[in-house]
Amino acid sequence: MKVSVITLFPEFFGSPLQTGILGRAHSEGRVAVELVDLRRFGEGRHQITDDYPFGGGAGMVLKPGPVVAAIESVRAATPDCRVVLLTPQGRLFRQTVAQELAGVGLAGGLALVCGRYEGYDERIRAYCDDEVSIGDFVLMGGECAALAIVEAAARLVPGVLGDEASTREESLSDGLLEYPQYTRPREFRGAEVPEVLLGGNHAVIAAWRRTQSLLRTAHRRPELLQGVELTAAERRLLRETSAGEAGE
Ligand code: ADE
Repeated sequence: MKVSVITLFPEFFGSPLQTGILGRAHSEGRVAVELVDLRRFGEGRHQITDDYPFGGGAGMVLKPGPVVAAIESVRAATPDCRVVLLTPQGRLFRQTVAQELAGVGLAGGLALVCGRYEGYDERIRAYCDDEVSIGDFVLMGGECAALAIVEAAARLVPGVLGDEASTREESLSDGLLEYPQYTRPREFRGAEVPEVLLGGNHAVIAAWRRTQSLLRTAHRRPELLQGVELTAAERRLLRETSAGEAGE
């Protein structure tokens, strides 16, 4: 997967790109992250990238010239890339978007544009293909958002995680929250591991996990169920169960 990150703070990404699974994926070239220093495209002797807002108001606004020049330099090297502006006004990032962007990064490449200061000059939007927000909160800049997107997409790239099954089975990959997990000891301060998990009957365990995922999702994030295909029996279970119990 190829990702170009346009940012005023390339150093922000230093440690994450050298650490853990992402560090290995980066050094092996499975996740090639190119950091594009927006300052290089700044204007004048001081390489200015921001200016006061027309009409007044607090804070500074990113100038269109440097950002568009940075985008064009990425497009020149990666003509098929998708340029994504990171902004709280974008479509919400979720697992389905991570899957989509991982595919885009593997095909033509992905470019993530990180803002800073109070915002972007509105005319920058015309040079981007997409806008994404990582949640309904305002960060100081797009760098954290870019990192979250790179992490979520990178782990979907074939070969990045050792055990491919873990991306298939985990939370949200099927649209549901993950079932409860346990490891040793069998009893911890009086709390026991559910008996069903100790029996070794894989079909029974799979059925228990599916039920737990459904109940937990119904209790904690009921809106997620709208995007999930349920059997008639599962629909009945959700109707009959007061979501408070196993969903805790
Ligand atoms: N920049 C500032 N806040 C953001 C958010 N929530 N998502 C993406 N980019 C941002």
